[in-house]
Amino acid sequence: MDAYLETERLSLRRFTADDAELLIELDSDPAVMRYLSGGVPTAPEVIREQHLPKILAGYEKWGGELGLFAAHEKDGGAFIGWFILRPAAEGPLDEVELGYRLRQAAWGGGYGTEGSRALLGKAFTELGVRMVWAETMTVNRGSRHIMEKLGMTLADTLPTPEDMEPVEGSEHGGVRYEITKEQWEQQ
Ligand SMILES: CC(C)(COP(=O)(O)OP(=O)(O)OC[C@H]1O[C@@H](n2cnc3c(N)ncnc32)[C@H](O)[C@@H]1OP(=O)(O)O)[C@@H](O)C(=O)NCCC(=O)NCCS
Repeated sequence: MDAYLETERLSLRRFTADDAELLIELDSDPAVMRYLSGGVPTAPEVIREQHLPKILAGYEKWGGELGLFAAHEKDGGAFIGWFILRPAAEGPLDEVELGYRLRQAAWGGGYGTEGSRALLGKAFTELGVRMVWAETMTVNRGSRHIMEKLGMTLADTLPTPEDMEPVEGSEHGGVRYEITKEQWEQQ
């Protein structure tokens, strides 16, 4: 496996065209999708025909350095989910979004924080990134906890997009956290 990034317990790699089943299984768990779609699984054909091709195209666009990365436990190799580190579609390359979606079996053991912390470090020391942001629903405590543990600060509140209105807690809107390279260095 060609590793993109290693942490103490995790190995992150680029997805390949053979990984559709991993993504389908991840998105089939209503608990994983709770604050994303209200628990509705992503249709397998959407993953095969839209999501995975877009992930692979992202590696082309950003030279394999930014995008969505599969995370595996180093011990045993189990797929635990993915992390994202990528610019907005038309945004500058030095401002990137951090995100994560992990299998329920992997929750609660610090993997979310561990992978995110390592990605922040890589972004600021190797990839020339100036600012990292992350967005989530106001009520997504687990996701916000990771952002806060990384030293990110609340930068803005966000309206709920129309397609997310049926999701539990959507009336509370969303939050955007940010951290600059300077703030990260001062930690
Ligand atoms: C959000 C998510 C990545 C958290 O991953 P994780 O590996 O369980 O996170 P960690 O173990 O690193 O936990 C980080 C902190 O948040 C806390 N936390 C985690 N889940 C929580 C929850 N549901 N409610 C409250 N706190 C929570 C942890 O206790 C930990 O704090 P601590 O170190 O002070 O105890 C994971 O639950 C997930 O993938 N959820 C589904 C997808 C999702 O919602 N992604 C974010 C969309 S923006």
